[in-house]
Amino acid sequence: MHHIILDCETDFDGWRTAARALVLNDVPPDKVTWSVRNHGHELSDDAQAPLEAPHGTFNVPAKFVELAKTAILHRDAERFALLYRLLWRLRRDHDLLDVADDPDVARIHAMAKAVHHEARRMRTSIRFREIGREHNSHFVAWFEPQHHVVELAAPFFASRFADMPWSILTPDVCAHWDGHAVSITPGISEAETPAGNRLEEIWQRHYAAIFNPARCAAKKTRNLPEASTIKPTSESVTPPEPAMVRHAAESLNRLREEAADCRACHLYEHATQTVFGEGPQSAQVVLVGEQPGDKEDLAGKPFVGPAGLMLNRALDEAGIDRKKVYVTNAVKHFKFLARGKIRLHQKPNTPEIKACRQWYERELASIKPDLVVAMGATAAQCVFNKLTPIGKNRGRLIDLDEGVKALVTVHPSYLLRLPDEDAKAREYQRFVEDLKIAAELLRKRAHAAA
Ligand code: URA
Repeated sequence: MHHIILDCETDFDGWRTAARALVLNDVPPDKVTWSVRNHGHELSDDAQAPLEAPHGTFNVPAKFVELAKTAILHRDAERFALLYRLLWRLRRDHDLLDVADDPDVARIHAMAKAVHHEARRMRTSIRFREIGREHNSHFVAWFEPQHHVVELAAPFFASRFADMPWSILTPDVCAHWDGHAVSITPGISEAETPAGNRLEEIWQRHYAAIFNPARCAAKKTRNLPEASTIKPTSESVTPPEPAMVRHAAESLNRLREEAADCRACHLYEHATQTVFGEGPQSAQVVLVGEQPGDKEDLAGKPFVGPAGLMLNRALDEAGIDRKKVYVTNAVKHFKFLARGKIRLHQKPNTPEIKACRQWYERELASIKPDLVVAMGATAAQCVFNKLTPIGKNRGRLIDLDEGVKALVTVHPSYLLRLPDEDAKAREYQRFVEDLKIAAELLRKRAHAAA
């Protein structure tokens, strides 16, 4: 019997080295046990020297390697043995992974799917709290992952929250970002489960020392447009307000690239592509619609179909140049019901709107417009982050944060759907009148700035 002890739960390299040596030594799966250091086996007498791998090679499909790297993050203790059994069988049956109803293949795919799902849950449910004081300001979140996804998800947080030092504390491992690199430290035991002030105590006791605040601050200020307003102190730089840190301006191009891979909800699965917002970085007005339609989904651009034509006409009549405004949607993937060749538009639900809201928030932080125009109920829900009736709120300027105004109006598709021509003409005119409020605000701001 061969007892393989891996260094940690996510030790893919250790598994690969051992599995390669075992296969090349012709050790069948039922003659191998797998465990992880600190889980009992290493103390037993039967720990062995690692097998030497004889010279020789064998090929496995690249997709097996990708699958194994993901499935090994599953919490099922059988995963190492299952992966080895698959590897062993793949040597003889190179196309095994295509046999969907093979029990081993089905199980490994289910494990990988569960891991991806959990990583997505982590990306969308983590909420950071600011702790530490003054020069040691730090953002911390507590999370209990169902699988070993912390290291998998950490790069997402490093990229999204690049400008703030953060820690994600979990019972398995903790991930930390100091503005420069991600580091991993052991998990916190259940007895230390942070609650209320405990979070801060744990931070002070375990983590404060591993950061270099000067380095974090230097990087933060380098990236922030507000840097000139931040005064240096003798040992570091005063961090900006949390709201500024959380949504430090990122370029729209960078956001667009990141959003192209968005998996924050399931809508990406059937849509052709992410339809990100479009317009100049310097736009003073952001127009928000509901979600891309069929034409937008294919073109990868917002408002290019019938609703887009209606919008263009109304903007023109209101005296707003579409080329100067930024046009986006609350939800950035097309949600539809396939009926033969036709794709029927489906209204996005609240979880989908919430999952997508990060993109709207980041578009706004990037552009810093004077005015956001929410067209329709979904857009209004996104802009105000709560259900907001159109009738009660339309046609007047409403304050958002940081001096930004909001204007609520109907969605141009609503006008297209009205069956009665008189009603259509009347409602269209009201839509134009709403847009004229936006035009008037722009004129006033331009005048004030002159
Ligand atoms: N409707 C929307 O809300 N957005 C588009 O991009 C197109 C139609």
